[in-house]
Amino acid sequence: MKKKVNNKKKTIIIISIIIFVFLLLGISGYLFYNSKKLKVNLASDRIVNINDEVYNTDYIKSVKNGTIVSDKQLVDTSIVGKKKIVLKIKNYFNNIEKYTYDIDIVDREEPSIDYSDRLSTTEGIEIDLLDGVKANDNSNEEIDVTVEGEYDFNTIGEYELYYVAKDSSGNTTKEKFILEVIKKKEVAQNISVDRTFTTSKGFKGYTKNGITYIDGVLIVNKTYSIPSTYYPGDITSETRSNMNRMFADAKALGLNIYLSSGFRSYNTQKIIYNNYVSRDGKEMADTYSARPGHSEHQTGLAFDVNQINDTFIGTPEANWLSDNAWKYGFILRYPKGKTNETGYKYESWHFRYVGLELAKKLYNDGDWITLENYFGITSKYSD
Ligand code: DAL
Ligand code: ZN
Repeated sequence: MKKKVNNKKKTIIIISIIIFVFLLLGISGYLFYNSKKLKVNLASDRIVNINDEVYNTDYIKSVKNGTIVSDKQLVDTSIVGKKKIVLKIKNYFNNIEKYTYDIDIVDREEPSIDYSDRLSTTEGIEIDLLDGVKANDNSNEEIDVTVEGEYDFNTIGEYELYYVAKDSSGNTTKEKFILEVIKKKEVAQNISVDRTFTTSKGFKGYTKNGITYIDGVLIVNKTYSIPSTYYPGDITSETRSNMNRMFADAKALGLNIYLSSGFRSYNTQKIIYNNYVSRDGKEMADTYSARPGHSEHQTGLAFDVNQINDTFIGTPEANWLSDNAWKYGFILRYPKGKTNETGYKYESWHFRYVGLELAKKLYNDGDWITLENYFGITSKYSD
């Protein structure tokens, strides 16, 4: 009986020892595994400004028991919000683990607005206050501009108004501008000075309501301006139909000619010109961009095609246009080597509608004659 009891006791002791050993092994195994587990220490502040230059490893302060095997790479920070970054890390046991963490991309910058700080119109004539006005934001999103303040196109006065642009992060820009509504009679006195004249080459010209015609051709250059209120709103229908015919004929030959810039209002031109002046200075801007009231684009008779820069020169499209545009009534308005006459550097992309008869004369079998030379007029600013 006693032996039996002893045996039972023995078994219990053995089992307890076995359990104890297993427990010990388990605990030490766990402790060992834990001490060799991958540990990544992340920076706590992971807020990034939109478009900042950030690398996928920038926020890893240290890695214990592992090595990052992902290449160091720039993170796309162009979109506001949480961004997941995934890194591959080789752990202590030589296995590759995926490690994921977030960064917060924020936008704290307000949009900027391209605008003109003074607009004017004649009483009773409504103008689009947003024409040519554009908001730019670092988030690359499309941002609407709204007008804040009260005004009345029928009541003479100066109105202090604001352009307001807000991006999706709530950053808001407000820019003040003045809208002046001028009395009808005053405008008439200021600009409706009718006069007739004869050019140095004997052509008859006249100026009416601030617009100059020579031999029936509307002239706009550095010498001859058009009033800010001249607003056809688009390229004229005659210009458009001939332009479309020309584009279609070019297409049939496998050429790709498209409209890049057509009608531009006084206000749009003002914004464009002012941008160039702030970029390149006035003297340089005057060599390639017309001051507001001096651009042919405001007449609705001129347009730019394809690339509006010198990369267009010598392309099959530019060569074809130079040889064929006259057949559709267009002239290459600022030909090469004629800066002294036109006042502008060579523009291989800018065409002006003058009608077939005059276009043929000015084409001159490929040796372009400028409007200035043909009529005997200048293209120079008075200041
Ligand atoms: N680039 C031409 C001259 C214009 O601004 O109208
Ligand atoms: Zn142009």
